Amino acid sequence: MACAVLTAVAAGSQAQQQQRIAEFLHSDSHTNNWAVLVCTSRFWFNYRHIANTMSMYRTVKRMGIPDSHIILMLADDVACNPRNCYPGTVYDHPQKTTDLYGDNVEVDYRGYEVTVENFIRLLTGRVEAHTPRNKRLLSDDKSNIFIYMTGHGGEDFLKFQDSEEINSYDIADAMQQMWEKKRYREILFMIDTCQANTMFSKFYAPNVLSIGSSRKGENSYSHYHDRDIGASVIDRFTYYNLEFFESVDLSSKHTMADLISTYNTTLIGSHPGVRTDLFARKLEETYLTDFFGAVQRVELTNEPFPIGRKRASA
Ligand SMILES: *[C@@H]1O[C@H](CO)[C@@H](O)[C@H](O)[C@H]1NC(C)=O
Repeated sequence: MACAVLTAVAAGSQAQQQQRIAEFLHSDSHTNNWAVLVCTSRFWFNYRHIANTMSMYRTVKRMGIPDSHIILMLADDVACNPRNCYPGTVYDHPQKTTDLYGDNVEVDYRGYEVTVENFIRLLTGRVEAHTPRNKRLLSDDKSNIFIYMTGHGGEDFLKFQDSEEINSYDIADAMQQMWEKKRYREILFMIDTCQANTMFSKFYAPNVLSIGSSRKGENSYSHYHDRDIGASVIDRFTYYNLEFFESVDLSSKHTMADLISTYNTTLIGSHPGVRTDLFARKLEETYLTDFFGAVQRVELTNEPFPIGRKRASA
């Protein structure tokens, strides 16, 4: 059965595929948003990568995505690192106005759980039967997913914890599997690492918008250095994205085009890349809240629902 479906899809013309995508996108079928935030760096001196990720985490939560729909992967826990002279905290600015760690953070994959295998399994849904809910991406074909990655990388690869690496083909194939398994409606892929734009150069699955911090051959640069912490506390590309996100709330009509128009290569120090050929909508019509906001849409059903039944008094 599955085989027959796949063959049929492969045999369908390009035009049919386009038609399917158009119908799919215009059927008002978007009901939930998910975020997968991945810091692949280990060790204290990579503090900024953890802070990048925690800042994104704070932002997507502020904009309304609940913890149940955020998968946070942190390869190193700097908040509880013995070298942290501000124990239990993560800051992305030397002024230390906002503790990103706070008292309400849910790390879903931590330490040595942050592996290439676990990341691919998470995306494609190929997790072990006993995997708890918080370690699963329970998205469907009505979900928009924001995937953010940061760490050390190079041309077509991103290191995981200095011990292994994921390459651009791995992620491209994982996304195609996600599409075939109806695990997303649209994906916004954002990556801050050296030569970041090479990481989405191999993507081929539909409805994916990709943004990276730097071109092939270019580094990604850190921003503030904190003397007390003894490390840089954020990367430039992430910093300037966050600066824009801070001006956005749930009611805002800011679009992806607005965000991208703020990128200033002088400030960022590298050339951010945007890949739109796989994405079916215009960036001017794609609101930031399409990915970051809380989506609450009612789905109608013909199933009878029992009302008037006594609620358990728990
Ligand atoms: C980019 O930033 C630099 C430094 O602040 C500034 O001089 C320049 O005008 C900015 N460019 C644009 C296009 O805004």
